[in-house]
Parts: sequence; C-alpha cells; structure tokens
Amino acid sequence: MSNYYRLNLKKIRNSKLKISIIGLGYVGLNLLIHFAKTKNEIFGIDTDKKKISLIKKGKSYINYITDRSIKKTNKNSICSTDYSLIKNSDVIILCLPTPLKNNQPDLSYLKRSCKKIKSKIKEGTIIVLESTSYPGTTENFIYKNLNLYKYELGKNIFLGFSPEREDPGNNKFSISKIPKVISGKTKKCLKLIELIYKIIIPKIVKAESIKVAETSKLLENVYRAVNVTLVNEIKLITNKLNIDIFDVINTAKTKPFGFQAFYPGPGLGGHCLPVDPLYLSYVAKKLGVRSTFIELTKKINSKVPYLIYAKLKSILKIKKSKVLVLGVTYKANVNDTRESAGLKLLEIIKKNNTYSLSYSDPYVKTLVIGSKKYNSVKINKQNIKKFDCIILITNHKKFNYDIIKKNSKLILDTRGKFRVSDKVLRI
Ligand SMILES: NC(=O)c1ccc[n+]([C@@H]2O[C@H](COP(=O)([O-])OP(=O)(O)OC[C@H]3O[C@@H](n4cnc5c(N)ncnc54)[C@H](O)[C@@H]3O)[C@@H](O)[C@H]2O)c1
Repeated sequence: MSNYYRLNLKKIRNSKLKISIIGLGYVGLNLLIHFAKTKNEIFGIDTDKKKISLIKKGKSYINYITDRSIKKTNKNSICSTDYSLIKNSDVIILCLPTPLKNNQPDLSYLKRSCKKIKSKIKEGTIIVLESTSYPGTTENFIYKNLNLYKYELGKNIFLGFSPEREDPGNNKFSISKIPKVISGKTKKCLKLIELIYKIIIPKIVKAESIKVAETSKLLENVYRAVNVTLVNEIKLITNKLNIDIFDVINTAKTKPFGFQAFYPGPGLGGHCLPVDPLYLSYVAKKLGVRSTFIELTKKINSKVPYLIYAKLKSILKIKKSKVLVLGVTYKANVNDTRESAGLKLLEIIKKNNTYSLSYSDPYVKTLVIGSKKYNSVKINKQNIKKFDCIILITNHKKFNYDIIKKNSKLILDTRGKFRVSDKVLRI
C-alpha cells in the first residue's frame, strides 16, 4: 500500500492539493473563496443551478460577499452542479444543510450528497464534515454513507469534523480571525486536517476527538440559545415592572467577570440557534436523558412573536391601522431570512387580518406572506409618515433611524435601538 499520509504531506507542502467543497451556501462559498487564494486546485459543487450560474457570472448571492471576490475566486476555481468534477480529489469538505424535519435532525442532504461522492473517492482522500450535527454523525453516518469501511482509516482514507464558527455580517470576525476547531479519527487524520486548515486559518484548535468537536459546536449554540432565551424571559418580567431590560443589561455588563451580555429580541432566528439545540436534544431523548433547558428555549422563544403581536393589539386598537415591520432577516446586516422571527410576526399579523401590513428591509426586496406578494417599502419621510405604528425587528445599519424616529407616530422597538419616549415603546 502506498504511504498516502506522506503523499498528502508532500502535496500540502507543495500546494498541489485538489480540494473540493460540497455545498456553496453561507459556509461553503466563504471556504471556497479562501482556498482559492492559494495555489491548490479548488472545486465547488452545488446542486442549485442558479447559484452556480451566478458564480460563473462573477455575481455573489450573499450580501456580505462582494462580486469582486467571486470574480477573483473564479480565476483559481471551478464550480459546477456536476459531481464528476470532484473525481481524484485529495480533500473533500462537506458544507451541506442540516435542518430540522418535524423537529428532528434531517440528514437527507448529507445522505444524497454521500451517494454521489462515494464512487468518486480515491485512496488517500481526506474527508471533512463541516455541517453542524449531533455527535456520531461523522464516525457513523458519514462513514457508513460513504462506504468508508472499504478503507483503513488513517492509512488510505482520512476522516474528520471541523465545525464552522462564522458570524455572518460581522466584519470584525472574518474566517481567518476565528480559531478553527478541528478533529480527526486517528492521529494522522488529525495532522493532515490541521495542515489543510492552516493553509487559510492561522489559529487551529485540536479537539480530543471527533465527537468532542461535534458536541462543542452544539454546546456553543445551545449556550447562546439558552442565554438569549433567558433575557427574553427576563424581559417579560421587566416589561410588567416598567423597567427597561436594555438598561438592566447595560448596567449588569459593567461587571468585569462572571457575566456576558446577551440581548433580547423578537425571538430566536437563523439556521443555527432554533435548529442546533434540537440536534442535541434528539440524542438526549434517545439516551433517555431529558434536556429541559433546550426544550425551554424552543417553548419560550416561539412565544415572543405572539407577545409582540399582543402588545401591538393593546396599543393599536383601530382595525386596518397601517403597520410597518422594519427588518425581516433573522439578524442585522445579512440577507438570510431562515427561521426569522420577523417573518413569523408578519404571518401572525396577516393571518389575523387585523392591520394593513407592510415591511421594509434593504436586503429583501420582495416577500410572499400567505398568498400575497409584498414589496419592501423605501424608508423616507413621506413613507414613514403614512404608518400608524412601526415595529423594529431587525436593526440593520442601513436603516436611517433619524428619519424613522422623526417621522413616525409610534415605534415598537424589539432591539433597544431607540430611547423610550412618548412615541417609543420597547418590547
Ligand atoms: N451559515 C452559517 O453561518 C453557519 C454557521 C455555522 C454552522 N453552519 C452549518 O453549516 C452547514 C451549512 O450551512 P449553510 O448556512 O452554508 O447552508 P446553506 O443552505 O446556505 O448552504 C448549503 C448549500 O448546499 C447546497 N446543497 C444542498 N444539497 C446539496 C447536494 N446534495 N449537493 C451539493 N450541494 C447541495 C445548497 O444548494 C446550498 O447552496 C449547516 O450544517 C449549518 O448548520 C452554518
């Protein structure tokens, strides 16, 4: 048997790797861009024809990734919907969706992809899963679905997991500034995976095992979900007491130890916080362990859009009053609406048919709610004056808050952006 470990070391040293990234969404596209800056041969696969066509035209579909960086990437990478491109890859990195289906982990994207990858794997390939999933996914699910039992791990195949830690839209933490957790099935797997990520990321953290790395990603997101839920719950109490929760947090966070500030909002959104904790509770349930904290995050957060609606109804009693929802993405400065609390609120308002509904979001030009199509309202003096109430859901930097504040009749602020006054209520 050839010494594939040594062969790989040599290819890494000489920048002669063929690296294939599967799934070019928020995680995969960013990775592709960074690897394409190196001298290695880079390939990207996505089943979404529209995305591949945009990449080929040098156009970005993610608001914080520029067309310029896609054009640059195109000079040193090839992207396609055709898996035959990945034949003979030295490295295959999977960045595929791991959503929920009926509140349970849905690994069908991984399964479909593995089916296409398995016949293209050659001896010596290094395979890394980046998708968030429950402990055991890499060593059991991926191992089985890629038929890796045909190989000898650490000898003629190398397997590991490396979680993505991106903070979309946050320029302070680009991929090269965030320590990258890696793991490998054997010492040799770990070494090769370390060297591969070192090509683009200076700080590497080696986890004790693949399961530790998988679980650490879930812990990071459960930690955030639980703490955001906690402040959302405390907000319910402080609202009744007429105390501003944002003032409370800003005072508490002056403590230099033992406290980290988390802020309340319109409910958990995005592809991670409402989803990942349920990957852990799924495993817990199978083991007969009750994950009460995780269950609570879902329970409490799913209530928040209804509480905002209840507040709205208590202050805006005239039917068909004009309501403008500001921001529908799940967080500020991104164009991602997955699991967005803003969308949930719009659906609730639409379903109850209480108000005349509009929205504004610089990153989402049109929306379909129910069967009706909505266009994003432009923020200007005249438009803002038309509305009886404005609900701030996503605090995008692009909003002109002066115009909004000066020309609105009433603001319901879920983000603590405006000072409380006779026309600003925080919820
Ligand atoms: N977005 C983030 O900030 C982030 C952060 C940490 C972890 N993650 C995790 O990383 C994984 C990917 O997340 P994402 O946000 O990039 O998802 P995404 O939906 O933006 O991207 C996934 C891509 O995979 C493509 N795809 C689906 N099935 C495919 C198949 N069979 N073959 C090839 N391509 C296929 C989709 O078209 C899509 O472009 C998830 O597990 C997610 O939980 C995401």
